[in-house]
Amino acid sequence: MDGGKELILSERLLAIAQWIPPGSRVADIGTDHGYLPIWLLQHGCAAFIAACDVREGPLEHARRSAAQYGLQEKLSFRLGSGLSCVAPDEIDTIVIAGMGGETILSILEAAPWTNDARYTLLLQPMTKAEVLRPWLSEQGYVFLKERLVLENRTYFPIMALRGGGTGQPLSIGQAWGGVALQDDPLQGNALDALLHLCTYALNGLERSTVPKNLERAAQQRAILVQLRRMKEEWLHANGKRT
Ligand SMILES: C[S@@+](CC[C@H](N)C(=O)[O-])C[C@H]1O[C@@H](n2cnc3c(N)ncnc32)[C@H](O)[C@@H]1O
Repeated sequence: MDGGKELILSERLLAIAQWIPPGSRVADIGTDHGYLPIWLLQHGCAAFIAACDVREGPLEHARRSAAQYGLQEKLSFRLGSGLSCVAPDEIDTIVIAGMGGETILSILEAAPWTNDARYTLLLQPMTKAEVLRPWLSEQGYVFLKERLVLENRTYFPIMALRGGGTGQPLSIGQAWGGVALQDDPLQGNALDALLHLCTYALNGLERSTVPKNLERAAQQRAILVQLRRMKEEWLHANGKRT
């Protein structure tokens, strides 16, 4: 890093930043405070960065943050929804972090050009990863790696993907428990948290007399079976059980 003060990223954003391929041309969609682009510039990790947000307020926040670190001239600030404010040839790496899984899905759905092997996507859903993962896989985005970060007592997945694959369905266990988290040290606890959540949901459904909830309860049981199996496999793979 050159002189001047260094921005300290949260563990969540740092984990994303560390997966940005060196020399990338990055679009940070939903940049808000602009911390990720600033850190990438400070560490010489990207050749170009578009800091994008759908609202003027957050984009102004990003401009202020960049000015604080003397980097305002080195970032391209873009106002617009999703990827509408970047051209496909400008970038090769797309970051969409800190949003709900369904919002991330709708941003990518509106930009089908991202489903191409030229692009690396780093996605970090705050919710509904179980909706986002199967959609991505069915569309042909290929999971390269995943990892978990613990923030505010919640486990958040970070996913690296590239476009241009053949669509593959995921199992319901992969949708909920992750595609590439078998070696993640946090996966055991993250699976426990999911098992707790799904058991709670199942208990509610089993008390219901609404016929549709019987169907949902059966689906919830299927999720639980697969998550329990994943937990067993994780324990074996990580030497916690022989
Ligand atoms: C919670 S912040 C996340 C900031 C940062 N990416 C992070 O992970 O810490 C979410 C940001 O996404 C922006 N946002 C929401 N929907 C968006 C969309 N469709 N296109 C671009 N930005 C969007 C919001 O305005 C907000 O600034």
